[in-house]
Amino acid sequence: VTLYVPRDAVALGLGANKVARALFAGAERRGLDVTIVRTGSRGLFWLEPMVEVGTPEGRVAYGPVTVKDVDALLDAGLTTGGDHALRLGAPETIPYLARQQRLTFHRCGVIDPVSVDDYRAHGGYRGLEAALRLDAEGVVAAVRDSGLRGRGGAGFPAGIKWNTVMLARADQKYVVCNADEGDSGTFADRMMMEGDPFNLIEGMTIAGVATGATRGYIYLRSEYPQAFATLKEAIANGVKAGVLGENVLGSGKSFHLEVRLGAGAYICGEETSLLESLEGKRGIVRAKPPIPALKGFLGKPTLVNNVMTFTAVPWILENGARAYADYGMGRSLGTLPIQLAGNIRHGGLIEVAFGMTLRQVIEDFGGGTRSGRPVRAVQVGGPLGAYFPDHLLDTPLDYEAMAAKKGLVGHGGIVVFDDTVDMAAQARFAFEFCATESCGKCTPCRIGATRGVETMDKVIAGIRTDANLKLVEDLCEVMTDGSLCAMGGLTPMPVMSAITHFPEDFRRAGDLPA
Ligand code: NAI
Ligand code: SF4
Repeated sequence: VTLYVPRDAVALGLGANKVARALFAGAERRGLDVTIVRTGSRGLFWLEPMVEVGTPEGRVAYGPVTVKDVDALLDAGLTTGGDHALRLGAPETIPYLARQQRLTFHRCGVIDPVSVDDYRAHGGYRGLEAALRLDAEGVVAAVRDSGLRGRGGAGFPAGIKWNTVMLARADQKYVVCNADEGDSGTFADRMMMEGDPFNLIEGMTIAGVATGATRGYIYLRSEYPQAFATLKEAIANGVKAGVLGENVLGSGKSFHLEVRLGAGAYICGEETSLLESLEGKRGIVRAKPPIPALKGFLGKPTLVNNVMTFTAVPWILENGARAYADYGMGRSLGTLPIQLAGNIRHGGLIEVAFGMTLRQVIEDFGGGTRSGRPVRAVQVGGPLGAYFPDHLLDTPLDYEAMAAKKGLVGHGGIVVFDDTVDMAAQARFAFEFCATESCGKCTPCRIGATRGVETMDKVIAGIRTDANLKLVEDLCEVMTDGSLCAMGGLTPMPVMSAITHFPEDFRRAGDLPA
């Protein structure tokens, strides 16, 4: 009998290793012959550790399993899919999963993440095989026609970027994956790297074949040790299996891949400071132009995409651009891996076509707040995203629709707050975050963020409230218009959305003279 126990960071944090050991020992005591396969997570975090058992009728899931439950579960016939209070049935039928459209995450939580054979047995490498049957223009055309846009947050059309790198002339080009996932409340990249790393490896290899880049780097945040270990193991196995290195899949093409660790700076998720850091320098933003697609790593043409952008590509090549573009709405095509976090009952990963409203995500999937209190504010798109009040929750998740409400889709992170949140404190936090994480290259951000904290302190203390709020507004205008990158340029978004939608929180202390 095969038991599947996740080894994703969330499951490990909730005791998955102890559960795996207890299951093995308990089965041995009962004379049961079990094999334990460590998988990634399916992303239903309130059910982790979620244990699955392979039966002739398919997998049966149990969760959340603690060490204390193991004996009772084995006695109830866990290894044959027996009944127990923690039995969830076939994982695919759990409504949270059944209502999703998992194009990118379909293998995550299902397979052994570091096994090339398991990956291929679940459809892996069909995308690269299809790409190898096309010429470079054909691959880039597929990416362009799918409508795929950069999933890191900016939503720039991936096909145009790939085309720019493909057409650039140079003796060496590079593919770089931005795996610095720094946004608060986001974890899709981590889940993918821990649960289905070959999907990323395959996507980057396709990018290498399409653009003529023979070397790739995954720039990973150091806060993800589990992802680091999984990627290193997967890459080594990939080289052994002939899907990486020289002569990829016998095609005569080579693609070499390495993982590099960051050192804990939010700004190194910005592509040009990421490249500086990758070159071994301090992570400071470079002015654009030149864009990295023309002059990137070591001054060579470099394709920089997020983990979620690369991992959408194998499915597109395998199933066709049309099939991908059938999902979504307007100019936001395909699926969006949404990460639901904060004060929410059922947090986790939700991959659905673009166009679902925030309310549907929070109510239908999330089941409301964990505290049971009313939702008051929802921040979408990380620490630089806007706070939305209740009356904006019917906005669909679509790049243009969110922008029309002065918000961001960003990397798809949604953080929910109940009615105990203090929005003035949140606005202050946005400035404080920017002051801490600013690279310091440009004045509006370096000085503006610090002045923002000071001015917000006065607002919170009720000192000349109107005049200081006006000052905050002016400061935000300067930061938006004058900052060199999105760090300083977007910090005004959480600040101004909080002031606009929750004005009452900014006048709690009244209005004192200076
Ligand atoms: P951007 O709009 O400057 O650039 C988007 C991408 O398109 C870049 O890779 C750029 O090099 C490329 N590009 C632009 N013109 C091009 C052309 N003509 N040909 C080829 N490529 C071209 O946006 P940026 O500064 O890269 O990203 C800002 C976004 O990052 C924000 O909207 C925010 O949502 C997101 N973000 C994401 C975080 C995360 O943890 N994933 C953290 C913080 C921000
Ligand atoms: Fe650096 Fe901030 Fe200017 Fe960006 S906006 S370049 S982080 S100082």
